[in-house]
Formats: sequence, structure tokens, C-alpha cells
Amino acid sequence: MTDRVVEGPHPGLPPTGEGGVGALRAGLGPDVIFETVVTTVAADGTPHIAPMGVRYRDDEVLLMPFKPSTTHANIIASGAAVLNILTDTRVFAGCVTGRRAWPIQPVEHVNGVRLACALRHIELRLAHQDDDAQRPVLHMARVHAATHAEFHGFNRAQAAVIEGAVLVSRLHMLAPQKVDGEMAYLQIAIDKTASAHEHEAWGWLLDAVQRHRAALAKGAAA
Ligand SMILES: Cc1cc2nc3c(=O)[nH]c(=O)nc-3n(C[C@H](O)[C@H](O)[C@H](O)COP(=O)(O)O)c2cc1C
Repeated sequence: MTDRVVEGPHPGLPPTGEGGVGALRAGLGPDVIFETVVTTVAADGTPHIAPMGVRYRDDEVLLMPFKPSTTHANIIASGAAVLNILTDTRVFAGCVTGRRAWPIQPVEHVNGVRLACALRHIELRLAHQDDDAQRPVLHMARVHAATHAEFHGFNRAQAAVIEGAVLVSRLHMLAPQKVDGEMAYLQIAIDKTASAHEHEAWGWLLDAVQRHRAALAKGAAA
């Protein structure tokens, strides 16, 4: 997951270094990125679900949604978001392959919703932001958190699905050989350790790669 680590200074990033005693004590380095799913709601109440890498800084959660994006627009408009910690990686693969209708439930303390499959959710309020033309850093204050299910440990196929989802979300800018090589390696973890959920998610990702290739071939032939 090396391409998810913040490497060097970025115009929109807060300075590296101190991550806060609380975060470090909890084993959460200041620039370690954790893959989560962020749920937001539009002004008309329409929910939106998006995989998102977040960082924990003292009592804040830092989000870096691209501009423009629905997630960014919703947080600016509502002042709120919900962080979902989950192991059902079908949500990650689903969101990058057009399957965004995941069961949601209302939350009580901010204007938002949470995923029904979240092991834990954290309700967040926008405290302030470091604006940037492409990728602002949104400093989100924790308002409320609740745990709904146990974390059973790491599963290699789940990690493979998340990596595959990152590749699929970048098909337009990655060389086909790189995608094929990385998918072939990730396939090993799928074959050895996947449950039905990861097999389903992996199938969506493979299908998305094939559809992307077919669309490119059609464009080249036209
Ligand atoms: C594992 C993973 C992590 C992601 N992290 C981010 C992120 O930190 N910021 C971001 O803007 N998009 C991220 N994305 C892509 C967004 O989920 C996707 O671009 C999003 O759908 C676009 O934003 P919108 O749906 O809110 O318009 C990530 C995707 C994956 C699969």
C-alpha cells in the first residue's frame, strides 16, 4: 500500500512531525493513512458513500477529498461526515465499480448516515480546513463514536481487494502492464484466503478492468 503513504511535502498537507501524544500512544503515526469509507449527505438528504484514506491527528480526523467531488461538496455544505471502519471490502470494490447502494442507518449527533456494515463509526464535524485547489485537508472534530461489531483480525484477501480497488480507481492513468502485474500478484491472496465476499468484490474489479480495456479498444478502432 505504498502509494497510499504521504511521501514528502504536499501543498495541501499539514506539516509532518508531531502527531500528538494521544495518536502516537494509540499506535497511529501522524502520517499513517487508514483506508475507511466516508459517508456524507447532500443538502436534499441524498446520502453519498466514498472510500477514503484518513489520518488521525490528536483528537481530529483529517480527510483529503479531491476537488471537485461529491464528498467534498457535501462536507462543505453540511459541515459533517461519518467515518466508517469496516472489513466488508465489497464496499470499496463496489464504490469504484458503480455499486454505491449499500445499506445505511441514521446517526444521531451530526447530519449524516453510517454504513450498516460498519464495525465502528465516528461522527465528525468540520472544524476548519487547509484549502487547496486540488486536495484540501479537512480537519474534522470527533463528535461521537460507536462500536457495532468485533474486529476479527487481518485478512489478506481483504487487503488485496482494497489494493485492487485503488488500481481500478486509477485505470485511466496506469499502464496496463502495471495493472496486470499487480492484479496477478494480488490474485494469490484472493485464491488462498478469500471468503465469498472478497471473491465477489474481486470479480467486480476484474470485470471493471476488462470493461476499461474493451472501451479503449473500441475507441482505438473507431
Ligand atoms: C482505498 C481508496 C482510498 C481512497 N482515498 C481517497 C481520498 O483520500 N480522497 C479522495 O478524494 N478520493 C479517494 N479515493 C477515491 C474516491 O473514493 C473516489 O474518487 C470518489 O468516489 C470520488 O469522490 P466522490 O465520490 O465524493 O465524488 C479512494 C479510493 C479508494 C478505493
